[in-house]
Amino acid sequence: MERLRLTKTKIAVLASGSGSNFEAIAQACAQGTLQAEIVCVVSDRAQAYALTRAEKWGIPARSFSLKKSPSKTQYEQDILAYLQEKEAELVILAGYMKIVEETFLEGYPNRILNIHPSLLPLYPGKQGIKDAYKDGAAKTGVTVHLVDAGIDTGPILAQKEVAVTHEDTLESLEEKIHTIEHQLYPKTIQTYIEQMKEK
Ligand code: GRF
Repeated sequence: MERLRLTKTKIAVLASGSGSNFEAIAQACAQGTLQAEIVCVVSDRAQAYALTRAEKWGIPARSFSLKKSPSKTQYEQDILAYLQEKEAELVILAGYMKIVEETFLEGYPNRILNIHPSLLPLYPGKQGIKDAYKDGAAKTGVTVHLVDAGIDTGPILAQKEVAVTHEDTLESLEEKIHTIEHQLYPKTIQTYIEQMKEK
């Protein structure tokens, strides 16, 4: 039982951009606060800095082009085959900018997590921080949720509020949100993994 608990869960990270959340997750794995091993990083963009970060960590990193694929289904099947080859048990979306479709959802039912920079259901979509800031919201935050077929709509696993002060600029708010993301995501992944193991 104890051995089972200490087994590291194999996770795949999907990212389209900078990959600062990937890095926070990799650090938590290295420190042992997250009982997981990142088996690969996948991007839809060959130029994503997340891939460079992954290489620095010695983690297999690959990009897949939707444009070069005959269909979105094929694109997802190709990624799925790669994740299965790497034996990933859990998929972590960290700034992955493509909508996840059926192929993926069926391949990893209740096993895909996403992080979104707002207090969902408020401000879904691509510009969660900007939308809250422009709206003059007094508070916003970060949400980690399970991914379903909608856009930022799956069951919520964790949320943390961030106050928006009069002194805040869009940049300072982005910084505050990212700092919270880097703490909340690894912590929530660990909690979810523990729940998976209890089942
Ligand atoms: C984060 O703000 C995340 O909430 C959103 O995309 C951003 C990714 O940032 N989904 P990074 O690539 O992890 O630095």
